[in-house]
Amino acid sequence: QARVTKICCLGAGYVGGPTCAVIAYKCPHITVTIVDLNQARIDAWNSDDLPIYEPGLDEVVKAVRGKNLFFSTDVDTAIKEADLIFVSVNTPTKKSGVGKGFAADLGYVESATRHIAKVAVSDKIVVEKSTVPCRTAQSMRKILDSNGKPGARFDILSNPEFLAEGTAIRDLFAPDRVLIGSLDTANGRSAAASLADVYGNWVPRKQVITMNLWSSELSKLAANALLAQRISSINALSAICEATGADVDEVSYAVGLDSRIGPKFLKASVGFGGSCFQKDILNLVYLSESLHLPDVAEYWRQVVEMNESQKRRFTQHIISSLFNTLTGKRLAVLGFAFKKDTGDTRESAAITLIKYFRQEQAKIAIYDPKVEESQIWYDLAEPGVVDDVTALKKQVTITSSAYEAAEGADAVVICTEWDEFRDTKLDYEKIYATMNKPAFIFDGRLILNQKKLEKIGFKVECIGRSRAVQ
Ligand code: NAD
Ligand code: UDX
Repeated sequence: QARVTKICCLGAGYVGGPTCAVIAYKCPHITVTIVDLNQARIDAWNSDDLPIYEPGLDEVVKAVRGKNLFFSTDVDTAIKEADLIFVSVNTPTKKSGVGKGFAADLGYVESATRHIAKVAVSDKIVVEKSTVPCRTAQSMRKILDSNGKPGARFDILSNPEFLAEGTAIRDLFAPDRVLIGSLDTANGRSAAASLADVYGNWVPRKQVITMNLWSSELSKLAANALLAQRISSINALSAICEATGADVDEVSYAVGLDSRIGPKFLKASVGFGGSCFQKDILNLVYLSESLHLPDVAEYWRQVVEMNESQKRRFTQHIISSLFNTLTGKRLAVLGFAFKKDTGDTRESAAITLIKYFRQEQAKIAIYDPKVEESQIWYDLAEPGVVDDVTALKKQVTITSSAYEAAEGADAVVICTEWDEFRDTKLDYEKIYATMNKPAFIFDGRLILNQKKLEKIGFKVECIGRSRAVQ
């Protein structure tokens, strides 16, 4: 079995960057080079201002960068020198062609694989780190076998990543499990053992699980589908709570105490976001349809549909509370990231909500502690619509504090559960004083103490809780 001493990672994104930085940190005897085609991203990784915000990441990168961790755009050299190559490139939902809107676009995985085949002159273990449809390893094998140089042999492993943004470093330091999928051949098992040894430097052996390639690929889609399904289930229940007088936090607590159900991922919200859940479920829907399993496809499609419906329902609730019109009213949107402790906005519920508010002719003031202004403009502009940004800027402003956003507002809308928006951190008396009356708060994340805010004078509306029914 080959001992890994040089690792290359193709893709310096939210997964490749933190994952391989932690490998370098935990394995001083391994040289890790993270490469990307995007020069600006690599320059940022080599600077004091890393391209992604993730608690604890700075410390890890700064401890090992320049020692056994390197960031580069020299993809050829990194591939040539490595024993093991992670493919950690993006796999977005296809925007056109067959499977548009559902299937994963495997173009980046394919071109990364072809790049490996073209330049590798010695044996390599190639590891799928990207989330891919079941049986992608088969396609990678065909590309490598038919394009590889003589003398270079490739073993392909699946090693899906389960980190969540905002807690990536904690998740990587102490993962619930590490999955390694391989072909059940002598070479396949040996390659899997080599990768297991890398993780063995810090992850207890019993948590490093080896299995067949296809199970490993499917387990990643399955885990995300099941997690998202829990959120859609509790959000579906939140609608019943609002109509009956039940309180979704109490229901969630009560059911979570059942050890068969467990308490995690049962927090009702304005809808899940992030780059993974929707994309991976749609991918599973497409896979099910391709396998002629329409009922299975429909089942999973409903998880995404319920998420969309939650955002529409929340907006409708805001409109009806504000006397059935948002025209000209100022809404302070607190939080633009898809969850707290990240600057990532991919599929963030805030984007959809703001689009709805704009359609109602509201004025919107946005504050987020970590998201860059340019990112917010980018996310809100309709691609291809001429002069959309000018129209956008007439309706939307970006502020540098929650207080500034709330000044003169008719309502505060909590979209992201940042700790700094809690009533123990923000001075809501000060906010109340500057708002139009009646001053509304719509808590889309259930982070506020409703009674305390009502005492100040706010009209408070929370997901999954109704004041009307006692
Ligand atoms: P990302 O877009 O942040 O990063 C991908 C990077 O790959 C980009 O910087 C891109 O320039 C680079 N790239 C594309 N083709 C390349 C090539 N041929 N050679 C070198 N670099 C190339 O994406 P991400 O969020 O890191 O996700 C990567 C994969 O991991 C996806 O399949 C995703 O589904 C999966 N995943 C993501 C998360 C998450 O929390 N973001 C968690 C688990 C799994
Ligand atoms: C997810 C998976 O958790 C992770 O294992 C996988 O590797 C990548 O996809 P991520 O999207 O980074 O991670 O964050 P996660 O914590 O799962 O949150 C996803 C979305 O669900 C967020 O918008 C979050 O606010 C929302 N959420 C989460 C809820 O609305 N309620 C919950 O109880 C939990």
